[in-house]
This record gives sequence, structure tokens and C-alpha cells, in this order.
Amino acid sequence: MTTQITSLEEYHKEYAKSIENPSAFWKKEAETFHWFKPFNEVLKWNFEEPNVKWFLNGKTNITYNALDRHIRDRGDKTAILWEPNHPEEKVVKLSYKELLTEVCKCANAFKNLGIKKGDRVVLYMPMVPELAIGVLACARIGAVHSVVFAGFSARALSDRVNDAQAKLIICSDFNQRGTKKIPVKKVVDDALELGCDSIENVLVLKNTGDSVSWNSSKNKWWHEEVDKQMPYCHAEEMDSEDLLFILYTSGSTGKPKGVVHTIGGYMVYTSYSFRNVFQYQEDDVYWCTADIGWITGHSYIIYGPLLSGATTIMFEGIPTHPTPSRFWQICEKHKVNQFYTAPTAIRALMACGHDLPNKSDLSSIRVLGTVGEPINEEAWHWYDKHIGRGKAPIVDTWWQTETGGILISPLPGITDNKPTYASYPLPGIQAVLVDPDGNELTENNVEGLLCIKHPWPSMIRTTYGDHERCKTVYFSTFKGMYFTGDGARKDDEGRIRVIGRVDDVINVSGHRMGTAEVENAINEHPNVIESAIVGYPHDIKGQGIYAFVITQGAAKDNTTRKEILEVVTREIAPIAKPDKIQFVDGLPKTRSGKIMRRILRKVASNEAHSLGDISTLLNPECVQEIIEGAF
Ligand code: WT7
Repeated sequence: MTTQITSLEEYHKEYAKSIENPSAFWKKEAETFHWFKPFNEVLKWNFEEPNVKWFLNGKTNITYNALDRHIRDRGDKTAILWEPNHPEEKVVKLSYKELLTEVCKCANAFKNLGIKKGDRVVLYMPMVPELAIGVLACARIGAVHSVVFAGFSARALSDRVNDAQAKLIICSDFNQRGTKKIPVKKVVDDALELGCDSIENVLVLKNTGDSVSWNSSKNKWWHEEVDKQMPYCHAEEMDSEDLLFILYTSGSTGKPKGVVHTIGGYMVYTSYSFRNVFQYQEDDVYWCTADIGWITGHSYIIYGPLLSGATTIMFEGIPTHPTPSRFWQICEKHKVNQFYTAPTAIRALMACGHDLPNKSDLSSIRVLGTVGEPINEEAWHWYDKHIGRGKAPIVDTWWQTETGGILISPLPGITDNKPTYASYPLPGIQAVLVDPDGNELTENNVEGLLCIKHPWPSMIRTTYGDHERCKTVYFSTFKGMYFTGDGARKDDEGRIRVIGRVDDVINVSGHRMGTAEVENAINEHPNVIESAIVGYPHDIKGQGIYAFVITQGAAKDNTTRKEILEVVTREIAPIAKPDKIQFVDGLPKTRSGKIMRRILRKVASNEAHSLGDISTLLNPECVQEIIEGAF
């Protein structure tokens, strides 16, 4: 196992070592894993191209390390503990032995369907054990998985399938979320209608058992393909820098980008960060409430915990079903020791009152975590008092899809706990704040742009099929640094607080949304001429989506608003629907024709009194109308 830091002194020592000699530091951690052939060089890098390689020429398999390696010492220990959507249904516990068997059977089924090393497989699935099994089965045979969050529309799914040129889609018949059933197979059929020429097969898991339409040449049932397979499958020997997965995420442009992670570095870092940030002990039960469709689920439901031999909970449902006590009831039922969720969930449950958590025995909880967006003071204190009962440190973990793992976080019980601060970088992470010219702000008590100076093992390697985009977005703003896109401040003791995005990306309920992506979707409405999206403060979601829309030939009323919401749902997903739509006659533009979002942000945030200088606008006259029509 990777090193587990247990004291502040040790943290300082490890951090210093990791900066003085990063290669020696990570060599030691990487050597705790099984390599079929050892690596002969730890790190090779330049941030100009960029080209980053870790554990060069090492051969391994991440599932060998997450499963086979544990069989001797903890083969009968629960690896995945699955809690169903409806509390009265049966909990599923898969031991490490059983999970290995299931992964092998699934891997053999993939092979049987013609999936080979390097092929891409898209998973569009509910939060059921078969999703984790499918992901690990890809890794077993060296196929590249790309999980697409099952809330995305057919259009968004087909875009991702085409970008990845996937050969296989895995889905269920229907997903269950609370009292709703979602026709997932139908969405996949619609995506194929839109054109997914690379797809050879669709593997369908019978989940609810409701009937679905069937294409007998391309559709295969999971139980027919998987159940008959042999329970052993050789773990493919993979190069450390072979692709492990592609995960699509939003950026400043309209098109989502496929963030690429490779095997060796991701393996070492997710396990290392998991063990340190959550201080996992052998008999603990750990629960991360994220969906595996996002990076949090990849790194901290599946890989980090399983590589560390942990018991990881997978929850199929939603926090409010059958009641808003569900999270707390699950914590009591399974005696959860580490609980990791998003600020938006905390705020939503906080609004339901504290008598709900007070009804559950939460005494097993030792560590609380948050991720995805800045947590406000009020939510932090509520979480601390009513869930942690004042004795469970909160780890406010800062990271991104691109970073693969947690980069900045308190270490519970080790570093101090300051509300709303992600605090200090983990060992190996050289986090710096810079000014807009790229000068490093070395003093404390400053605000700046968050960058990382040196590579870490789980960092993004490329954006799939478009290396130039990776270079432009992350490595060109500041020479020799990875630019996160976030603004942050350092307090008088150097603790870091991440404030939020400084680019055209908004964060709604911890989900990243490109403003251009939402605008493109709205513009698909036949009567929309132009639109502009900005984020504004929202009590529950953190940021809400405010749309300013110019239409022609359409009534500026709720019918048109409803149609716009339908278009966004069809083009992207329900989570991308604007909370407010204001019809306007013009949008404030600079002389070069760029929308001045700064002004729109002020209007949306109810701060129109401090607009600043608008005289440089091409069309300053439109501003008054926008202010008057604001919600
Ligand atoms: C963006 C990354 C990392 C998994 C979930 C989101 C924001 C993330 C924090 C935090 C303040 C945070 C940043 C970041 N963010 N964690 N603890 N405090 N902001 O992954 O979709 O890739 O989004 O989420 O703005 O850049 P993602």
C-alpha cells in the first residue's frame, strides 16, 4: 500500500521530500504496486508540447492491483456494497473474490463481442454494480472506457460516442431514480438514430425488466452474454502510459472535450490520495455519493478505494427518496466511516431542517468530505454540527476532471480545519497563485489564478483526438505551468481557498457547464437569434443559469420559455436548463463584437448598481432595457 501520513510533522516531511525530489518520492509509492515489468524511468516531461509520461516502460494492469492483489489478504472482504434505490430492496455485497469473478466474466464477454485492447467502450448506465464491473472489465482487457452520465440526452451521447469512435455501448433497459423510471435503452436507440457508425453492439442490462424495443442484430442482453462466461480472464499487460479512460467534460467552447487519463500514474495517485485524504483504515466503510458518470465516481468510488482494498458503497438512488433522511439512514444502516458528498446536496438537505439527521445514529462517521464547488460558510457549519456532530473533520477537496485526483485538501485530524478552505496541497502538488501576467505570487494574503508548476502522476495527458486543444486550454496561458481555470486566495498562513472559475465555465450543483455549450443549444430554437448565458448565485445549486435571449417571430412568453427548456434538454441534459430566461432586444457588445458578460453577470446577480464603465460598448443603449427587464 501507498504511504499513509499520520501526523502534521510527517505531512511536512513528505511534502518537502516530494518537492526536493519528485521522482524519488513517486518511485517509492509506485513500487508498492504490482508491475508485470518494472518501470525504468519515473518521469519524463515538458509542458510546452505538453508531453508527460510517468513510470516509463512499466507494464501493469490496474485491475490486477485493485482486485487480484487483495485476494490473499482480504478476498472475502466486501469490495462493493450496493444500496438500492428503494430501501426495501436487497443490499448487494460483492467481496473482492466475487468482484474479480464478475469482472472476469464480463471481460470475457467483451472479448467475445470483438472488443480488443485499445478499443473504446461507452457505458451509459445506472448506479448499479454492473457499471463498476463493466468499467473494470474494460481495464482488465485494455479497452478504454468512457462513462457518459446517464442524464445526458441522445444528442450529447451520440456526440461523445462519435468523438471516441466507440465500438460498444453498455446500457440498461431503464434506470431508477427515486420514483421515476428513465428509458435509457430508448435514449441509446435515439442516439444511434442520430448516427453512431462506429458502434457494433449495444449490451443491455436487464435492470427494471420493463420492455424495450429490440434490434436483433446489434442488441445483446448482458445476462445472455456475461453469465455463460468462464470466471477467469487474464489481466492484459498494459504499458503505464496506455489509455485507461476518456471522460468528457465542458470547457469554454461549445464542444465537450475528452479528458484522457493513462494507467500507471492514475493508479498510483488515486490510491495515494484516497488513503491520505480519507485516512481509510482496514475495517472502515467508505461512501462517496457521486455518480460514476463524473470523475469523482471514477477516482473515489471505483479506483482509489478498490486499489486501497477498501469497502466502497455504491448508491443507486437520490438523496430525497423515499424521504430527505435517506443519506443519514444509509450512514446509520451501513455504519459509514467516511462520507463524501457535494455542497449542493448539503445545502438541499440543510433546507429540510436538522431534525432529520438528528434522527439517525451518525456516530460511526469519522471524516466528512465535500467536492465540486466552493462550500459556503453556512453549509460548512451545518455539515460540521449536524452530520459530523463537531467531531468529524471536513475535507474540502479541490480537484478537477483533468487532475484525476484530489490535489488540495485538508488531511483530517492532521492539518487544521478552516471553514471553506481546501487548505494545503497534497505531497507532490506544487500549487501556486499567479497574477494575470503569470508572475508567481509568493507572499500570503493574496488572490490570484491557480496553477500547478510540476507534473503529478494522475494529470491529464491529452484531450482525445485533439492534442492542440489540451495545449491551448491548459498549458498556453502561463508558460511552464498547468492552468486550472480557477481563481483562488491564500490566507495569512498560506491556506488556499478556491473561489471559482475565471473562464466561461459555470458550476451548477457541482456540474461543469460551458456557457457556449448552453448557448449553442438555445440557439437551436428556430426563433432564437442570439443568446448569452451567465451564472448567478443560487441558494441550493451554488450557481444558477441565467439566459438572456433575443428572439424573432416568437412570443416573449412562457410558451417560448418552455420550448427553450425543451431544446436544452434535447441537446444536452435537464441539468443544463436555464433557471431564468429574460428576453432582450440586444446584448451588450464590445466594439469587436464580443458579448460583455461582465455586465450580464452583474445584472443577473442583482448588482446592476455597480456596472462600472460601459462607455466602450458598441451598443450601450441596450443596457438600460436589460436592467429594467431583469428578474
Ligand atoms: C471544477 C472542476 C473534482 C470533481 C468534481 C468536479 C470546482 C471542485 C472544488 C472545491 C471549490 C471546486 C472548480 C474546478 N471545484 N472542487 N473543493 N472548492 N471549487 O469536477 O467537473 O472537473 O469541475 O470544480 O471550479 O475547476 P469538474
